[in-house]
Amino acid sequence: MFKKIYIGSDHGGFSLKELIIAQLKNASVVVDKGAFTTASCDYPVFAQAVSQAVLADPGSCGILICGTGIGMSMAANRIKGIRAAVCTDAYTTRMTRAHNDANVLCLGERVTGPGVAAEIVDLFLVTEFEGDRHLKRINLFEE
Ligand code: RB5
Repeated sequence: MFKKIYIGSDHGGFSLKELIIAQLKNASVVVDKGAFTTASCDYPVFAQAVSQAVLADPGSCGILICGTGIGMSMAANRIKGIRAAVCTDAYTTRMTRAHNDANVLCLGERVTGPGVAAEIVDLFLVTEFEGDRHLKRINLFEE
């Protein structure tokens, strides 16, 4: 269970970021790394800020939101040690935690509605990595 969450978005994910912060405020510590307005901005800046914070704080995770989730995931996955996954449903969310030990969840505000996004966030935070053969596989990412 992740209790500390670093969250970030660009303008395309700003509204969903605010909803998720409100969703989590009683259950988790959430650190908002921006954006702080809906002004047009560059998603890699926030992907990097959240990813570096997650790497510096073992046991934490990140949530990144842009229009599709894809740009955020591309930018985050450039950073060694980050395993960022775009999730659009419960199954992919559960599997990316159980098998990939994803440490950053990426969402697309223009793709996934607020109800499904809330369910995905809850599932991502509680689903444990299964380890075992999957640990060997994710370690191969770093070769
Ligand atoms: C911004 O218009 C949009 O390109 C961005 O939010 C994201 O979807 C990129 O992957």
